[in-house]
Amino acid sequence: MRTVKIFDTTLRDGEQMPGVSLPPVYKVQIAKALDRLGVDVIEAGFPAISKGEFEAVKEISSLDLRAEICGLARIVKEDIDSAINAGVDIVHVFTPTSRIQVEHTLKLSRDEIVERSVECVEYVKSQGLKCMFSAMDATRTELDYLIRIYKAVEDAKVDIINIPDTVGVATPFKFHELVKKLRSELKVLIDVHCHNDFGLAVANSYSAVLAGADEVQVTVNGIGERAGNASLEQVVMILHSIEGIKTNIKTELLFDTSKLVERLTGVKMPPNTPIIGENAFSHESGIHAHGVIKESSTFEPGVLKPEMVGHRRRIVIGKHAGRFQIKKMLEDAGYLVDESSLNKIFEKVKELGDKGKKVTDRDLFTITEIVLGELKKEEKVVSVDEITVITGNKITPTAVINAEVFGEKKVASAIGVGPVDASLKAVTQLVGGGVHIREFKLDAISGGSDAIAEVYVTVEDDKGNVFTSRGAAQDIVMASFDAVINAVNYLLLMRRRKS
Ligand code: KIV
Ligand code: ZN
Repeated sequence: MRTVKIFDTTLRDGEQMPGVSLPPVYKVQIAKALDRLGVDVIEAGFPAISKGEFEAVKEISSLDLRAEICGLARIVKEDIDSAINAGVDIVHVFTPTSRIQVEHTLKLSRDEIVERSVECVEYVKSQGLKCMFSAMDATRTELDYLIRIYKAVEDAKVDIINIPDTVGVATPFKFHELVKKLRSELKVLIDVHCHNDFGLAVANSYSAVLAGADEVQVTVNGIGERAGNASLEQVVMILHSIEGIKTNIKTELLFDTSKLVERLTGVKMPPNTPIIGENAFSHESGIHAHGVIKESSTFEPGVLKPEMVGHRRRIVIGKHAGRFQIKKMLEDAGYLVDESSLNKIFEKVKELGDKGKKVTDRDLFTITEIVLGELKKEEKVVSVDEITVITGNKITPTAVINAEVFGEKKVASAIGVGPVDASLKAVTQLVGGGVHIREFKLDAISGGSDAIAEVYVTVEDDKGNVFTSRGAAQDIVMASFDAVINAVNYLLLMRRRKS
């Protein structure tokens, strides 16, 4: 079976995304995660751009990871020396080649660019390192010039050439033709680097592999300059599940790696993002949910299952929900409902949905308890007496909670990056850990500083039970705290019901 290599540039092109700047400790954390994931090459950065960047690349190079470490350099000796001094395995030299970029960004003639590129490749090779060469803006460069420069660096013993679609103007058919043509002209390994300006980065990378590319440049979550780069998760799963082409990626780590990058870069993925988005395997409409509960491949691709990428399937309740899925969710949570109660619950869920409300698990269970007449006194595992949260510019945000957990008095305290973080950490500590906040969404319902804040949370326990809940208050900390306490209460109750 054919294997395609994965060159990850999350720490270089990914970090060039506007608004993203990773301190060295985060870069190291991501590099280790990428190595665990199984990428073949980690482009750790552009060492010549700053002292901090140089140090980060140096530290990543010294980690002795399984993946090869690459550093970017212009066709300038100082840049190459910087990458070499940072201890990389591969120096990635690049130069503009399209007329528009050469004219406006370089003071070299096109002949001089070829000469300089060859000298740079020879220099890297003379230092005993691997060399990758990129003709920047390749897809807007005349084909004869592109072939000329790639042949020149091939003769200079470059290890791999990269074909960048720098401004994302390639289309799958045209890019396939280009890669096929270069494949027929060159013997050297071919890599591609696609940008997503027209939403075609993944499709173009895929078409390049079909045309014979040996390696693909990607970023986790597709982050990168402007509209981003080809997404690692999508390219890998297309190759793996649709095309039967192997990569060295441990696909079951994709979801967690995506979440780590989301958290450290601060770039949140929309829920409908393929493979790793919150809704990638979620089903709300009755017909779909019914089918999926019976046989998942009725309304999922089948060759792509949540467990393959470390994700989970979720049946969600909303105005499109059907009786069958509501019944299944209630049974899973330990509620026994007869036909007439189920009909009442069903109608109430629809009513909420029609009012434009997101129906959380907690809403469903509260409705059920009202219908079953069980909600005499709200049953609680965790009953909070007092919560104190302190914060300030000279104080580490700290939260202290006094509560009864399973009838036993407890005190928990935690510090955090802010008052919300501290109080949510204190809740998880209160119940002895084992619960994780998977999703946290804050909405202000009305304008002004006294607006009501509504918080939606998704909480998961160590057994994979997931629960959604909401909290609302004028105080953001209290709204967050309520949402999480509600979710934790129901998770623990659900466990008890089931045991
Ligand atoms: O988009 C691009 O052309 C690049 C090069 C440095 C490869 O990122
Ligand atoms: Zn790029």
